[in-house]
Amino acid sequence: MILPILAYGDPILRKKGKKITKDFPELEEFIDNMFETMYSAFGIGLAAPQLGLSICLFIVDASSFEDDDEISEEERNFLSTFKQVFINPKMLDESGDEWSFNEGCLSIPEIREDVFRKKNIKIEFYDEKFNKHVKEFNGIAARIIQHEYDHINGILFTDKLSVLKKRLIKGKLENISRGKIEVEYRMRFPKTKKKR
Ligand code: NI
Repeated sequence: MILPILAYGDPILRKKGKKITKDFPELEEFIDNMFETMYSAFGIGLAAPQLGLSICLFIVDASSFEDDDEISEEERNFLSTFKQVFINPKMLDESGDEWSFNEGCLSIPEIREDVFRKKNIKIEFYDEKFNKHVKEFNGIAARIIQHEYDHINGILFTDKLSVLKKRLIKGKLENISRGKIEVEYRMRFPKTKKKR
């Protein structure tokens, strides 16, 4: 089932997610719904708080990068099969130079900005079967994980922009929270409670 994605301004997006256990009610169904919702909006990552559930869970599917000829073949090959559920993740290390990448967010439609983040990460997480993993990622894969990891900590990519950039997009963000925007996918806007 496609669920509405919460828009910028919703207080749930600012809450820290709670850790979950194997017996979290209807977890499998919720994860299925997350993927369905993410694909319906052509996203590459989605965090549970964006669907109104304040828990430590996000998903990634970066396979759409397989046709991106602006990145190396090696990275493209990796991303083409990079689909993963991350439960109770814990960032163990972030290292390497900061690099900028143009980020967007399904909760913040039509805004894209360059964001600086470190190149390499090491992260511990559980998959949907609650098997534990410790893995290293770099480049775009790390970038997507860092963005989603921020979501479960109540952080949005726009928080990381310069004071000037923040000022420039302030009006647009206000419009998003009021639902004064045309979006091709299902969203819920905090200041209207309008569902589409
Ligand atoms: Ni996002």
